[in-house]
Amino acid sequence: MMKALTVKGYLPETQADVTSTNAPVPSETDVIIKIEAAAFNPLDAKLAMGVMQAFFPLAFPYIPGTDFAGTVIAKGKDVREFAIGDNVFGRAEPVAGGAIAEQICVDQSHIAHRPSGLDAQTATSLPTPAGVAQLALDKLACPQGAPLLITGTGAVARAAVILARDKNDVFVLGDGLDRLAGLGATLVAPMDPELADIVTKTAHILDTTADHLQSVYLAHVKPKTHVASVAMPMAEDVAQQANIKSEFVFLQTDQGILQKLATIAATQPLAVPGSKTFVLDEAANVFDGYVNGSLKGKYILTNT
Ligand SMILES: NC(=O)c1ccc[n+]([C@@H]2O[C@H](COP(=O)([O-])OP(=O)(O)OC[C@H]3O[C@@H](n4cnc5c(N)ncnc54)[C@H](OP(=O)(O)O)[C@@H]3O)[C@@H](O)[C@H]2O)c1
Repeated sequence: MMKALTVKGYLPETQADVTSTNAPVPSETDVIIKIEAAAFNPLDAKLAMGVMQAFFPLAFPYIPGTDFAGTVIAKGKDVREFAIGDNVFGRAEPVAGGAIAEQICVDQSHIAHRPSGLDAQTATSLPTPAGVAQLALDKLACPQGAPLLITGTGAVARAAVILARDKNDVFVLGDGLDRLAGLGATLVAPMDPELADIVTKTAHILDTTADHLQSVYLAHVKPKTHVASVAMPMAEDVAQQANIKSEFVFLQTDQGILQKLATIAATQPLAVPGSKTFVLDEAANVFDGYVNGSLKGKYILTNT
């Protein structure tokens, strides 16, 4: 048996609780990981509230959490790349969840090795936010030296700035800009008079916010601009009216991206600093606060 945060139905009708549940058993290509750290992401709240039910119908009881770091403690007979005792990190499929627990079972393709310079708390902060940032940048394919506009100042935006800054002239549009100070991007508030000039020079935008900044950049955007959104798809009629190319980017766990993120995070501040930690017995309270919006920023489970 193991302890885990469990949800018995879509929130808020049912409470999240820490309960005892069966420890996972690996199939041929699975690994069991003893979780050292696991992170909440906005996606976990959306999944448990049922707002993504059409894409990700959950089976209950459901254990929230996709991003984790820990040690391999068991593996299936076809797992060759990982050994018992290896330090790894990774991301479970959203419908599977399972990270806010003592152990998790995932296919070997969902994990990567964690280099010695990368601690578990930093590693667990990466897979979803930095993973989708990298995927969105790959889709945008903003040419070398060209301006790139990123909206928002959360974990995805931070990672995107760091992943793009060596290649592009990066601008960030958002509130709470001091969260991204010193990372090499030019920070632009929504009311900044220079915004119009910046947007009209930009052909690539990574939008990490729901929709409140959309009208701000769309007021100045030039035709054919490529907008990659990660929080919410842009309405088709809005994109048509602005004559832009809009696409929604949804992360699928990719071992190659995980490995790349691990290498970069060992030397660069890819993960949100100052994250708050909690232990499993506090997980239900933290999750409630995360879901109802009273807790902001990064929250990380630490197991001893
Ligand atoms: N499509 C995908 O596969 C995918 C993957 C990852 C994430 N996402 C989505 O992308 C969006 C951004 O994700 P994220 O991980 O960047 O979210 P996040 O770190 O929670 O940031 C979201 C917003 O929360 C506020 N915030 C962040 N850190 C804060 C802090 N320390 N103190 C106070 N407020 C803070 C900021 O907004 P304000 O300043 O306006 O308050 C920020 O723009 C979410 O909607 C998420 O669901 C999608």
